[in-house]
Formats: sequence, C-alpha cells, structure tokens
Amino acid sequence: MQIPANRLDLTFRENQNEYEEKALSVLRSGWYVLGEENTAFEREFADFLGGGRVVGVGCGLDAITIALHTLGIGPGDEVVVQANTYIATVLAVTHNGATPVFSEPDDHFAMDPECLEKKITPRTKAVLVTHLYGMMTPMDGIRSVCDRHGLLLVEDCAQAHGCEWNGKKAGLFGEAGCFSFYPTKNLGAFGDGGAVVVQEPMLEENIRCYRNYGSDRPYHNAETGVNSRLDELQAGLLRVKLTHLDDFNRVKSEIAERYLREIRNPLIRLPQHVVGAKNVWHQFVIRCEQRDALRTYLQKKGIGTAIHYPVPPHLSEAYRSIGVLKGAFPVAERLADTVVSLPSYFGLTEEEQAYIIEALNAFRE
Ligand SMILES: Cc1ncc(COP(=O)(O)O)c(C=O)c1O
Repeated sequence: MQIPANRLDLTFRENQNEYEEKALSVLRSGWYVLGEENTAFEREFADFLGGGRVVGVGCGLDAITIALHTLGIGPGDEVVVQANTYIATVLAVTHNGATPVFSEPDDHFAMDPECLEKKITPRTKAVLVTHLYGMMTPMDGIRSVCDRHGLLLVEDCAQAHGCEWNGKKAGLFGEAGCFSFYPTKNLGAFGDGGAVVVQEPMLEENIRCYRNYGSDRPYHNAETGVNSRLDELQAGLLRVKLTHLDDFNRVKSEIAERYLREIRNPLIRLPQHVVGAKNVWHQFVIRCEQRDALRTYLQKKGIGTAIHYPVPPHLSEAYRSIGVLKGAFPVAERLADTVVSLPSYFGLTEEEQAYIIEALNAFRE
C-alpha cells in the first residue's frame, strides 16, 4: 500500500463541479481583484467564526505582518512567540522591525502561560499565540496574562480554522486573528490567501487601507501600504470550500479520534485532548524518540510522514544573527527532534487508517 504524507486533490474532487463552476464564473466576470467574491467571502468567514470583521489579504504571513503593523508594533517593541511555532509567525514580527521573544510551549504544543509571564519586560507590547497543528491553545491563562500586563493579544490561526476554546472560535480572543489559506490548510485555497479578523471598526479600516497601497480611496494614499489582497478567484473558491469546512474538519477529527483510540505503542506519544479545547487536527502529530528509525520503517511500508518542524525558528539560519544558541529552549528543541506528522487528510480510507495503525503498533526499537 502506498500512502503519501498528504493529498490535496481529494477535497477538490469531492466537490469538483462546484469549484469548476465558480472558477468559470469568476473568469467570465471580468473582475479579478477586490470585488464581490472577496466581499462575500469576508462576510461569510465572519459568520463562520461567529463574530468579528474579516479582511482578506494575500497570505497568512501578510495577515500577521499587517495585523502587527496596524496595531502599532514596530522597532523597540517585543512580541512573545512560542519557540515551537512555524517560522512565518516570527517573520511577521521581524518584518515590522520588532523583536521576537521566544517562550517555551507546554506539553500540548501550545504557549505556556507561566513561561510567557516570565518573558514579559517593559518593552513587551504583544503576545502572538499559534494554535499549532489545529490544536486549540487554552486561552484563559494567556488572556489573563495579557490583561494583567496590558498586552495586545494576536492569534496565529493559520492552522486553526474552526478551532474553539469553550465554544468560542480561534481568532476572536484578542485584538486580531490571522488566517492562512495556503492549500494544505483545513480551509485551503488553490493558491495563496489569508485574512485578518478584528473586532474594532477602526482597525478594520486601517487594514483595508494598508493592504491596498495605503489607499483609502482610489489614487489617494494615506500611508505607504503594501499590495496584499485576496484575489477574486481564490475568494470565490474559498467560499465554496467554506460551505464544506465543517464536514472536512469532522472527517479529520474522526481520523484523529481513531488514531487516539487505536495507536498503542510505548515508543509513541500521542497528542492529548485538553478539556475546553476543540481541535481541528490540521496535523496529527505524534512524538517518538526514535523518530528517524520510525520514519524509515514507515517509508518502507509505503507510509509517508512529515516533520512540522525540524528546526525551531531560533535555530534557523535565517535568525542566526539574533544569537540564540542551541539549548536555550530545550522543550521546543526536543519537539523538533521527535515530532512526526501522520497522514490524516480528508479522503484517507478506513483501510489506509487501519494499515497505518497496524504499522505503528508493530514498530519496535
Ligand atoms: C503557523 C503558521 N503561521 C503562518 C503561516 C503563513 O501562512 P502563509 O503560508 O499563507 O503565508 C503558516 C503557513 O504556512 C503557518 O502554518
């Protein structure tokens, strides 16, 4: 049996006619950037989230970068990020000239409020939480640290479309929630895309202006903005996918639940549910001290896996200049050495799931 680490064609095939009709109608409309599809998607995504004001942008990295910019974060400001996040979270901070301050994650890959509190200095301006792997960060502890210290709270929801904490969706807990629609995401476009959700009308207006050359009306520029817009084709296709997102998330959750029930091997650590958190299992990530041997063994059986992520941002070549040395964040570094993402995509058959489970349960040192 051959099972790739991920497949993106199956969600497309599931509703192929709808996507094709939408693509044709956008192509025939003669309007390709910032039009009716974008406006409708922004409204429908806000409905899905159950609140907030949504602004479409070019990608997830832009969503975070623009959110931080419009919140006034810049040189001299510190932003706390979890040390095991994807590098884009950190890039958004440094692209604004601000300083990323890394904080160790807890046992569920999420930002640990106690570690976070120890990182706060007089220069700390914001906390940037990532709901990594589609596992919802318990928000009570984080929110109360932010409130106690008067910090802005921004959520990186790139992997968390539909995650909830005590019934409230990821993206609605702070000043801004930032989404990616990169094709692999639970709500993935057919190219790049992103969105910011905010609560404040003024912030929404500023983001709308900044994403479009800083233009508040045609050919008048209030500030030196960027070009980061969600195009009509992606917005239209995302509208189609959004109507199926709950189904895709449910199917991914069923796969995750089966893995949690049936994978039994003392060499493998499974992710854990946290009471109050609704996960959408963007990735199903296990931990194994013999990670490389496990991956080779699975590969021989035709099972593809991935590592999210092998190098924590503070050890990446790109951030060598910030001078954080190996050993500074042992929890995040240990995760980078031991995590493995299993195939858990929409369309993975029950037979394939059983084959993966059987292979994992038979793995020996
Ligand atoms: C946690 C996280 N943040 C930010 C991003 C950036 O999103 P994009 O690739 O759309 O720029 C991604 C996705 O790649 C991500 O996984």
